[in-house]
Amino acid sequence: MPNEDITWWRDGVIYQVYVRSFADSNGDGIGDLRGVIEHLDHLGWLGVDGVWLSPVNPSPDLDWGYDVADYRDVHPDLGDLRTLDELVGEAGSRGIRILLDLVPNHTSDRHPWFVDARSSRDAAHRDWYVWADPRADGSPPNNWRSVFGGSAWELDPTTGQYYLHNFLPEQPDLNWWSEEVRGAFDDILRFWFERGIAGFRIDVANGLIHDPELRDNPSATDDDPPEIRRRGQRQVYNLNRPEVHEIYRGWRTIADGYDPHRILVAETWVFDPEQLARFYGSGDDELHLCFNFSLVFSDFRAEAFRGIVGSTEGALPPGARPAWTGSNHDVGRFPTRWCDGREDRSRCALMALLTLRGTPFLYYGDEIGMTDVAVPEDDQLDLVGGGGAEQPSRDGCRTPMQWSADPSAGFTRDGVRPWLPIGDAASRSVAAQREDPGSMLNLCRDLIALRREMPDLRSGRYASIPSPAGVWTWSRGDDTVVSVNLSEEPVTVPIGTATIAIGTRRERDGEPVGGELSLGPWEGAVLRVAPS
Ligand code: GLC
Ligand code: CA
Repeated sequence: MPNEDITWWRDGVIYQVYVRSFADSNGDGIGDLRGVIEHLDHLGWLGVDGVWLSPVNPSPDLDWGYDVADYRDVHPDLGDLRTLDELVGEAGSRGIRILLDLVPNHTSDRHPWFVDARSSRDAAHRDWYVWADPRADGSPPNNWRSVFGGSAWELDPTTGQYYLHNFLPEQPDLNWWSEEVRGAFDDILRFWFERGIAGFRIDVANGLIHDPELRDNPSATDDDPPEIRRRGQRQVYNLNRPEVHEIYRGWRTIADGYDPHRILVAETWVFDPEQLARFYGSGDDELHLCFNFSLVFSDFRAEAFRGIVGSTEGALPPGARPAWTGSNHDVGRFPTRWCDGREDRSRCALMALLTLRGTPFLYYGDEIGMTDVAVPEDDQLDLVGGGGAEQPSRDGCRTPMQWSADPSAGFTRDGVRPWLPIGDAASRSVAAQREDPGSMLNLCRDLIALRREMPDLRSGRYASIPSPAGVWTWSRGDDTVVSVNLSEEPVTVPIGTATIAIGTRRERDGEPVGGELSLGPWEGAVLRVAPS
């Protein structure tokens, strides 16, 4: 049961469900909300406190739900409003809160606001989007590039102006300088909060505001991270405007107006810890949690991880919590990206994510160590990546959840073709791993349970402890230490007197440690340290 003494989002674990791929209840090959309800017992058993649902709104699905055509309804492929209400209730009875994905930066070009906006220059919703005249030679108004490649401007032939789209041309950017747009989203937030939604993951949270003077972005330099260099420019005018913070202070007031359990989680594509920290405001007046993509894109090396965690901890305002994640529907799965598909590495990564100070976000399948699936080109559905595009296809991390070793992976009915192909469910599935106490699934569950049992793991401060090369060791509070050996060499780490609470090699659980902890290659342990 939920423990009301703790603030659920600070101390808990949040789990991302990519709804189309979680569980198909009606045999059309597409995961749906009823499927999520039917698998809540798994999430309750695992011990998660919150679920973030990838977009559930009606959408033409050019960007799989991130092109919203109606912010107040449910996509018919996924269910309806009543099923969503039922999900909120059923999850709540298991102590699990539901977060929705909110996409405020842009709408679908089929959204009635945009259909109206493009109908004429003096349409009622014209100013809800960003329009600009062509340059004298007919070219786009400035050099802004879309995150998905190419110019961020599309000419609308009917009205003779360009509109801004930081993503696909079918995802026109809203004009966040418009008070009407702001008012519309305040109402959308309230609409869902009133239905019992615990909060939102805010899509492209660093992107909403654009420079009203439409100044050209400066070129990238060699000092910029690869993400920025790839695009050739620093996106300081089309995205990343400081004026966005005022919007979030307003939203925080709306959330706090309900109760302290309503939260705002931000997708923040920023790589500078100070810039990330700004989204937390002064610690309690902006966003509750912000994703940290520096860690996501880091090499899985002790020195790199220690550096990123340290600089994040150092930058956040007092009282703020980091958020840690390894996988999502855009960046791929950590067992592939960080760990080369090796389970010993994945266990170390999972142990770190679940024992750092901060709120861990698991992506469906992380708990069984699912890896990215090589989706054949003919089966790829992601319009953004793959083929000749600038980015790899994102389909490989969106394949069906592997519930069982059956040909349908327990995702859909036998003989039904799932919307994306199924990975290697014969070697990794929930059913098989539940039976095995030494499995990755049971490691994940036991680490989550340990967080509940040990106050240090929830709220103890983080401090790095000097360790041999390739090893990352840190303390949480006074009595807890975690050490992971991210190298191919066996090592010994000076620890003091301690007991292994949980090891990535489970046969070591309960082992007493007298002074030095020995760890094999790619092995980790959470230790209770005897008070000195
Ligand atoms: C976010 C989403 C991604 C989507 C993009 C545009 O980055 O996570 O899936 O394509 O926004 O909405
Ligand atoms: Ca279905």
